Amino acid sequence: MAQTLLAIKYQDQQLEILDQLRLPHESVYVKIQTAQDGFDAIRSMTVRGAPAIAIVAALSLAVELAQTELGSAEAERALILQRLAFLVESRPTAVNLANAARALGAVVEAAPADAAAIRAAYTAAAERMLADDVADNRSIGDNGLAWARATLGADRFGVLTICNTGSLATAGYGTALGIIRSLHTAGVLDHAYALETRPYNQGSRLTAYELVYEKIPATLVTDSMASVLLKTHPEIKMVVVGADRVAANGDTTNKIGTYQLAITARYHGVKFVVAAPTTSIDFDTPDGSSIVIEHRKPHELVTLRGPVVRDDGSLDVDDVRTVHVAAPGIDVWNPAFDIAPAELIDAIVTEKGVAVKDADGRFHLDRL
Ligand code: MRU
Repeated sequence: MAQTLLAIKYQDQQLEILDQLRLPHESVYVKIQTAQDGFDAIRSMTVRGAPAIAIVAALSLAVELAQTELGSAEAERALILQRLAFLVESRPTAVNLANAARALGAVVEAAPADAAAIRAAYTAAAERMLADDVADNRSIGDNGLAWARATLGADRFGVLTICNTGSLATAGYGTALGIIRSLHTAGVLDHAYALETRPYNQGSRLTAYELVYEKIPATLVTDSMASVLLKTHPEIKMVVVGADRVAANGDTTNKIGTYQLAITARYHGVKFVVAAPTTSIDFDTPDGSSIVIEHRKPHELVTLRGPVVRDDGSLDVDDVRTVHVAAPGIDVWNPAFDIAPAELIDAIVTEKGVAVKDADGRFHLDRL
């Protein structure tokens, strides 16, 4: 299998991230040197995807600490906790960041009262998150493959996905796209379909880029084609999506468009599967009703950015422009996420195993 793309490069307390605003036409890494850089990269979506956001936030602070003079133990602890609280404010919906900040905060609280020891404990824990995420995603791929084989039989089948949940959204391999990778490697995948994922086009820009890069047979469709695609392509047996936050009852917040996919999958008798590490589970939130959904700026919906197409059809990647694609002055509603109710979800695949509902129709995520 081809080497998967690297969204996050980290070595010797140096951090670089692949600028996802410039993909797929340019591959440029940008340096992250402080927690403020991390915050800005997350808010601007230079890095995006729930697990990747959490890891970049954690490592941005590790890098900042490496360049900061040590003070007292008390000052070190206060600095780390203050910066973590700041980073959590960058984007509200994905819970991985809040879960990571809570776990790192606990490490700092538990460290001996010595500034160097506190810093070392923080850095080691942040670095472990990077390594753990890749390992967890590979397990999600294995678990998803095993579940699909057991549930859908031995025949090859097609899969539909939304947004970008691959190497670019995580520390590597991916969640929903990781399962698609595992199905492909095992010879079970017939074909992958990727939704464009308006308005930000994570599907056409990023997932399509990963699928082409890894030579996985795939087709891009617009979001409005999902229902007719399932109706006309009965070989598609599974819709697999990522998650930004899974409530304790299984209600799943994910990229806008996921809810309608869950409805149409149920109508067409297609399995609807969520792929997420347990760091995306929010046990403090009983169900989806109280989850804060991020609303993004109108310009993300009414503008498109990309290279100019020359008269002969080739792309001029040195001439990247923004164009406006709506009537000037029109009001815009731009929620970035929606919530697929647990009722419409057949399985939640995590690194610890696959949660399915009991006879009463309830998930028990705490038993994973
Ligand atoms: O707004 P984004 O691009 O950060 O949204 C990302 C998604 O919705 C993904 O599907 C989700 O984070 C899972 S990433 C493995």
